[in-house]
Amino acid sequence: MPDKRIVLLGPPGAGKGTQAQLLCDALNIPHLATGNLLREAVANGTPVGTTVKPYMEAGKLVPDEVVVDVLVEAIDAAKKNRPGGYVLDGFPRTLNQAEALKKVLNARGESIDLVILIDTPDSVIQERLSQRRSCPDPLCGAVYNLTSKPPKVAGVCDLCGKKLEIREDDKPETIKVRQAQYWKDTAPLVEFYARRNRLVKVPGSGDLDEVAAVILKEVREDRGIVTSGEWAKK
Ligand code: AP5
Repeated sequence: MPDKRIVLLGPPGAGKGTQAQLLCDALNIPHLATGNLLREAVANGTPVGTTVKPYMEAGKLVPDEVVVDVLVEAIDAAKKNRPGGYVLDGFPRTLNQAEALKKVLNARGESIDLVILIDTPDSVIQERLSQRRSCPDPLCGAVYNLTSKPPKVAGVCDLCGKKLEIREDDKPETIKVRQAQYWKDTAPLVEFYARRNRLVKVPGSGDLDEVAAVILKEVREDRGIVTSGEWAKK
């Protein structure tokens, strides 16, 4: 299969991180999640971490110029260490970021092949985020759900044995801020990519394996890409 550069789009808690990991395992390509990279920077107390910490704790988007640099560095490292493409999870999140990504890729003769919008209703998202537990180890970062994906031992990460936590930004009031940011800054990317004939919408409310199967089918067959006009009818 040729290189695949895929973006997963969707509101906080839609299942982007979970599906990105499953897709990357299936395609054997890296999962580049800006949320994880930024949380790692915060945990390590780097200058980037110090800059972004207050934004993340408040549920706000970090400045475009900071996250674009972080992402480009991750893409470069991925290309060197594990060619074949990548799945972007949590990036781009603003039109500026999408334009910056386009510019960087264009300069290399590359482009995003597919953007998958995980379309998950708000009620499902609220339930999922209230049940999410995360591994605080920045190198692990495994994500669980008390209902749909519980750890083998309650409260303990299956992979590294650390004590699971509720993410700092998963407090109900911070979730509201993140959702508002999504609808204001990120939702316009749906039309941005639909206009470029790159967007596929998949239902996100099924169980983990159902959603994963639909996404993998879309990726393998490159089917169902909708243009702007068609998108408006959906
Ligand atoms: P980030 O970490 O990207 O958070 P997010 O987009 O809000 O997404 P989440 O991680 O909350 O949810 P998800 O869609 O990955 O869902 P998950 O798979 O975990 O960003 C955090 C912060 O970093 C931002 O607020 C911002 O400050 C900053 N940031 C990051 N990128 C940035 C950028 N580009 N620009 C500016 N700032 C940026 O699933 C949720 C739960 O549901 C889990 O418990 C999971 O197990 C469960 N679940 C998932 N799928 C299913 C299913 N099908 N059935 C049942 N349960 C499921």
